[in-house]
Amino acid sequence: MTTARTDLIEHFLRTRRASLDLCAPLQPEDYRIQSMPDVSPPWWNLGHTSWFFAKNILAPRTGYEIDRGLDYALNSYYETHGPRLARAQRGLAPRPTTADVLAWRTTVDARMLELLEGDDDQDPTTLELLTTTGIHHEQQHQELLVTEIKHILGWNIEALRAPYRDEQPSVATTALPLEWRAFEPGLHAFGNCEGGWCWDNELPVHRGYVEAFALANRLVTNEEYLEFVEDGGYRDPLLWLANGWAAVVARGWQAPLYWERTASGDWRTWTFGGMRPLRLENPVTHVSYYEADAYANWMARSRGIAGLRLPAEREWELAARTQGFDHRTGNFLDDDTLEPRAAIANDGPLLQLAGDAWEWTSNHYEPYPGYRPFEGTLMEYNGKFMDNQRVLRGGSCATPRSHIRCSYRNFWPADTRFQFTGIRLARSL
Ligand SMILES: [Fe+2]
Repeated sequence: MTTARTDLIEHFLRTRRASLDLCAPLQPEDYRIQSMPDVSPPWWNLGHTSWFFAKNILAPRTGYEIDRGLDYALNSYYETHGPRLARAQRGLAPRPTTADVLAWRTTVDARMLELLEGDDDQDPTTLELLTTTGIHHEQQHQELLVTEIKHILGWNIEALRAPYRDEQPSVATTALPLEWRAFEPGLHAFGNCEGGWCWDNELPVHRGYVEAFALANRLVTNEEYLEFVEDGGYRDPLLWLANGWAAVVARGWQAPLYWERTASGDWRTWTFGGMRPLRLENPVTHVSYYEADAYANWMARSRGIAGLRLPAEREWELAARTQGFDHRTGNFLDDDTLEPRAAIANDGPLLQLAGDAWEWTSNHYEPYPGYRPFEGTLMEYNGKFMDNQRVLRGGSCATPRSHIRCSYRNFWPADTRFQFTGIRLARSL
């Protein structure tokens, strides 16, 4: 067996184990809850990630037959693969049981190992490519698992909420002052310039011209965002996009998701360690694109800074590539903080680009010039979602470290709040 194949098997096994480890603190009931339509129950994530390997690798390459019930329940959105359980109804299905799903994971793992350790496959290059894709797919679902577990455990009244784990001891700190880093105008390459495996939406590498701009050295903090809240930011329609203001009115938004004001006026927030006072120095998170955009508009107005706004995708990528993206040191899922950390170490011109919180960019999620989707059924993975979503960059404290790249493009509808989404400000110069 080649070293590359041995490494791939190790990465496969480590990834599969990590998904189960994330669920270890859950009670049996927690696996079945769908706390809102966007949140899949944990049993479904564990089953669907197995289905991905079975459907895309085992079935076509070994003739493996997937149980019809599992096939129906665990297909996410692939029209190519036929009828499926509706996304919003995953929490209504009593079968497959969690035990069924866990047993099937073991079967799929054993069959994948058999295939990867053997030399029967006629096209090992494609086998390795698809296995790598399956690993990255499972890593995406690990981030979903974490953020969905947070929502499942936290949506109820306080007396019925259960923390995921004991409170992690931490020391209050002070975030570094916000400063601006300027970038010259110029023509640059964008996309997966670094090479290696990537999603189809990061290709092809292409050039683009960027006007002069400046980027904030760190993410917006809870303390800074609180000033916007207390200054009436959620009551002023002039700060908001029309769809954003409609969401504020219809859903009663008054602060980021998980923030709650106590009777004495203090703010608290839901964390994996339970409810606790808002950590002012930490980056604000669980804000929608609309809130990020309204905050930038409020900052521009209240500070009198013309051209203050959210960064464009190209600006973010240029800054990250040239000045500050180190996925080895960022705060990711592997670090087990499960929350963004304050920017305190002055160890580079731009902090928190890798990890902590996904950063909303002003760009709609669109194909790069010359985009070509993956071949076969995986053409449904990304391309068909390039509609009505915004791009986010950088990864979060719930992203597995080996999953992220400088060119990585995440995307969510503009009203999404249950992910670890935060704000970095930019300015036109
Ligand atoms: Fe999926």
